[in-house]
Amino acid sequence: MRSLIDITDLSAEEINELMDLAMDIIENPDKYAHACDGKILATLFFEPSTRTRLSFEAAMESLGGKVISVPSADKNSSATKGESIADTAKIVSCYADMIAMRHPLEGSAYVASKNASVPFINAGDGGHCHPTQTTADLLTIHRYKGRFENLTIGLCGDLLYGRTVHSLLNAMSLYPGNKYILISPPELRLPEYMKETLDNAGIDYIETENLEDAIPELDILYMTRIQKERFADPAQYERLKDSYCLTEEKMNLAKEDMCLLHPLPRVNEISAKIDKDPRACYFDQALNGKFMRMALILKLFRDNEEEIKSIKRGTTVHFNPDYAFGIKGAKINITKCKNPKCITTAEQELDQIFANGRCIYCDTKEQ
Ligand code: NCD
Repeated sequence: MRSLIDITDLSAEEINELMDLAMDIIENPDKYAHACDGKILATLFFEPSTRTRLSFEAAMESLGGKVISVPSADKNSSATKGESIADTAKIVSCYADMIAMRHPLEGSAYVASKNASVPFINAGDGGHCHPTQTTADLLTIHRYKGRFENLTIGLCGDLLYGRTVHSLLNAMSLYPGNKYILISPPELRLPEYMKETLDNAGIDYIETENLEDAIPELDILYMTRIQKERFADPAQYERLKDSYCLTEEKMNLAKEDMCLLHPLPRVNEISAKIDKDPRACYFDQALNGKFMRMALILKLFRDNEEEIKSIKRGTTVHFNPDYAFGIKGAKINITKCKNPKCITTAEQELDQIFANGRCIYCDTKEQ
């Protein structure tokens, strides 16, 4: 079954097709109003969300489908009784035609997708990935800049825990000629595995702490919130929480056609005074998220059409526990992942597998 765990599950060509589809949905909403009649999307959010959950639900409703949901799944689902992600995914597959899930553990999306018998979408797995936010980011870049190549892109704030940053970098790396200025306090620099990905792809990036010096060079500035919920030490969060605040004075240093993005919610990284600046694209970005999720839902139903037909409703599907060894040509090691936020730390029955030196669930590098 084709699912979406990270944006790299899609090729550049597919991303372009998704954007064309989203643009057609924007221009001709009536054409799609019954495209998902009779289909059910389940939204399972084990972490807070406003935009992602509501835009998924609005997307499915706008396609004529229906939505079922466990509100605050971290408190109200059977996970509180100790149910595993794998079992949850199998069970929800009995009731829905597609699942969108957000969960605080890294790699939870991978486990759920391998156990779901319907298409599965990662709506954020801890500080790891957030591919559907990236689709919203990309459509916004497409509409404001008209291209994905030869851009100088500044990513500012919490680059360590900011999952939207990781997925956006993975996506933009598919396109040539982009340069990255990674702006963060030293404690919140990009994770090692992400830097390795950029290095392996020969991507041009620099790390700095200074937003003012970088801003005049940028075609895109992607601001992020310091991710309070991911800090093990609250004192460290208190020290770093006000690292960056984009003010009107700093915006005056930026190019006239710079595109200012933020996945939202913002705390105080962007002054509300900037909202009226024509370069402020973050509210459009949130709206674009709904259209891209509509396009994605349609694509996953289309791509999985044959497999979906073969699901025998009324019987449960049995899964091959050896799925993880299917990674083609990879050097496999059975080692325990050291990331305390990896799904394998919480669910110890999972096979502990590293492929090519990285945990197959959360990407952490083997030590
Ligand atoms: C982001 C997330 O959840 O990672 N929000 C979103 O989905 N739009 C960013 C954040 O919470 O800071």
